[in-house]
Amino acid sequence: MRLPRSTRLGFQPPAIGEEEIAAVTETLRSGWLTTGPRASLLEERMAAYLDAEHVLAVASGTAALHLALLAVGVGPGDEVITSPITWPATANVIEHCGAVPVFCDVRDTDLNIDPDLVPALVTERTKAILPVHLAGQVADLDPIMALGLPVVEDAAHAAESAYRGRKIGSISDASCFSLYATKNIAAGEGGLVATNRDDVAEAIGNMRLTRRGDGARYDQVTPGFKANLSDVLAAIALVQLDRVEEHTRVRLRQFDLYDQGLAGLSGIAPLVRDDRDTHARHLYVVRIDEATAGASRDTYQQALADELIGTSIHFLPVHRLTWFRERYPAQPPLPVAERAGDEVLSLPLSPAHSDDDILDAVDALRRVHERFTA
Ligand SMILES: Cc1ncc(COP(=O)(O)O)c(C=O)c1O
Repeated sequence: MRLPRSTRLGFQPPAIGEEEIAAVTETLRSGWLTTGPRASLLEERMAAYLDAEHVLAVASGTAALHLALLAVGVGPGDEVITSPITWPATANVIEHCGAVPVFCDVRDTDLNIDPDLVPALVTERTKAILPVHLAGQVADLDPIMALGLPVVEDAAHAAESAYRGRKIGSISDASCFSLYATKNIAAGEGGLVATNRDDVAEAIGNMRLTRRGDGARYDQVTPGFKANLSDVLAAIALVQLDRVEEHTRVRLRQFDLYDQGLAGLSGIAPLVRDDRDTHARHLYVVRIDEATAGASRDTYQQALADELIGTSIHFLPVHRLTWFRERYPAQPPLPVAERAGDEVLSLPLSPAHSDDDILDAVDALRRVHERFTA
């Protein structure tokens, strides 16, 4: 076994190199600080990459989700069915529309929304369904889309994902990506909406700025959100897009190192991956079963921190967070999500890490496991 680390291993540092730095410098020299030619080029190139009719660049993944929900017509009093195993932003934007999030329990395999449970939650107030592709494994979209309601995907983790051979970005009413610092295409902040619907693209185009049009004769058709993407960030995202395949290969290798290194550890199991789909390998998530792993997830997380290994949790069930718990006190229990929320732990994964870094994380986890199961 390898010796413990002497320096901290970050959970998911961005892989930023000289090309990104040069692209930012070149953008600053060009004079385009706000939305300009690089944001347009990013939209064009992402549309080709995702095989989508339209891609709109916005300020964050949260803004992408918010504007997409508004664009498909979600408004006050409506209900939107979504997953509780997600970043709170997914549910926050439903609130921002004046609508009500209806949380559907997840599947025990991949912790994505359970399509068998969705139909029973549909009411005459349901305006949209918002599945999340957790960690890069896609939710099962066909049975969800068969319900005939607008579907907006939270694709923050799913830049390289495909569902049954089709890229995420070309399937539902709108797919919403994030360019946040940890994401597979990382600009620091930023988001993208991919859609094949002209009306959705038009609505988001109107909402993402204060108003639409140039020069003195501008007009306003709707109160805009000023949620556009700056060219400085678009320039970083363009370089990251150039490197997406190279980075995917690194993450694939890191997944293999974890799969091999952690095989056979009692009570520690990776989330199930469905090989009919393409997994974006955004997060390597294990579940820690306290009864057989000898300690809780929280104890493991602390023990790994003591070994200088950074980890994270994706995710705590959103319906149990204070805002949602207090606002919707009658929320029924969601047993699969609630158990998963106590068990999930995400291990270091990043193209900025070397194979040795990942092997350090593997050995630290093996050491900790040996201690807890002795
Ligand atoms: C699943 C999920 N949805 C939405 C978001 C929001 O994206 P952003 O931080 O770009 O607003 C994130 C991440 O940050 C996320 O992980």
